Amino acid sequence: MDIKVVSKATSRSGADLTCHFLRNGKGFHAAASSVDKAAIASGKGMFVGASDGGVVLCPVVNVLGASLYPDEALRTAGGRTVLHAVQNGGSHLIWELDGELEENDFRLLIEGAMFADYEFTSYRSNSKPTNLKITVVAGNRMAAFKKVLERCRGVFNGVNLARNVVNTPASDMVPLQLAEVAKGVCKRHGLKFASLSKAQLTKGGYTGITAVGQGSVNDCVLFSMSYIPKKKARGSKPLCLVGKGVTFDTGGISIKPWDGMWDMKGDMGGSAAVIGAMEAIASLQLPIEVHAVVGAAENMPDGNSYRPGDVIRYKNGRTVEVHSTDAEGRLVLADALIYAQQTLKQTRIIEFSTLTGACVRALGNQYIGMMSQNEEFKYEIRKASATSGECVWELPLHPEYRLLLKSDTADMKNVGGPLAGAQTAGWFLHEFINPGTTYAHMDIAGVFLARKEKYWRGTGASGAGVRLAVELASL
Ligand code: BES
Ligand code: ZN
Ligand code: ZN
Repeated sequence: MDIKVVSKATSRSGADLTCHFLRNGKGFHAAASSVDKAAIASGKGMFVGASDGGVVLCPVVNVLGASLYPDEALRTAGGRTVLHAVQNGGSHLIWELDGELEENDFRLLIEGAMFADYEFTSYRSNSKPTNLKITVVAGNRMAAFKKVLERCRGVFNGVNLARNVVNTPASDMVPLQLAEVAKGVCKRHGLKFASLSKAQLTKGGYTGITAVGQGSVNDCVLFSMSYIPKKKARGSKPLCLVGKGVTFDTGGISIKPWDGMWDMKGDMGGSAAVIGAMEAIASLQLPIEVHAVVGAAENMPDGNSYRPGDVIRYKNGRTVEVHSTDAEGRLVLADALIYAQQTLKQTRIIEFSTLTGACVRALGNQYIGMMSQNEEFKYEIRKASATSGECVWELPLHPEYRLLLKSDTADMKNVGGPLAGAQTAGWFLHEFINPGTTYAHMDIAGVFLARKEKYWRGTGASGAGVRLAVELASL
């Protein structure tokens, strides 16, 4: 998508679609209300209401109502102009924004447009690329809007990368291919890339990741990406992103039912989020040191698979009795967390994972489940959440939940039973956090996929986590 910001309206051609954004009955564009009727009559105008008060002012696309948060209404308005053009064969949109539009409103419109522009077509034989153009008429806000646009471009480099990685079938995104994607990001931006092969993981005692991966013909791998900025902001503390990279989760010997199993090609959504975030952080050249660690494995049933009842002895001495081979994410992440702390010496870690169905049942598709014991870190994450629009909700780590992980054989088991499943998973991961490490676990199981609504052009990966991580790195 080619977006240009200009100060004055250019001459229009037949393929153009002029968009005015109306909010609560008022146009951002000073003349919007008078332009409206003529444009509707001519059939060329399109009106998108960004109403948060239940008043919908879009005679053409009536999609907005009181059921969206105001920011989402603006993203949806921006996205709808793109979807409208796509559906009607338009190629050039003119956004008339020469009015009282704030920079932040503009950012939200652009974000919606960028979400809507994305389409995953690699596996379609009959797809034509949509080459949309948007001319933004910004008046005296031109310079400010251009800056906003640059930032959005950087962020969406990361979001789109994450969406591609999650959408790619698991047969073409095995652990080593996931590592190649990360390596590509590092090459493009001059980041440091390091990885441990299956043999190195075995030798190094990374027993969680090798146990989960041992039933697959596709080797597991653990890798890291390190971004050191040319100039660090004063007082900025390094941030470490950790991601779950289960490239396909059959459940293993504790096999999942067939229905919906295809979604598990996206069980590396957490790792996609952190790789995407690194792409964005590097393209935006943020003034903070950021590392990413991904544990990648494929969870398959096989003669060589790990089994329920097996005991995994971790590098840090912890022993874990496997009660379900489908609770594999936490086993992989435990090793990634050990690596981040022991090898990379990281002490401020945010980890993203499609970890539990329980989180989806508790919070639906609207929230990331946040679990942390550090109030300051949670405060920062909530700030990043508010700007990014990726909603987070805390799930409590009640100390007594820990008792649910008691094992008769080992230090603990990998499942906590039917109750509070997201939290027992959160506690399990906390068992691998050293004293002095700041840590937050973000369960993105409910949000890694999009539904065909708002600004989404279709279903598939949402790119969840990228914007939140980038905002956190930008605080
Ligand atoms: N990858 C799944 C969690 C998941 C479910 C992600 C739905 C996205 C959508 C995870 O590995 C898993 O299978 N978790 C189990 C844990 C249980 C066995 C304790 C679950 O949630 O059922
Ligand atoms: Zn699983
Ligand atoms: Zn999983």
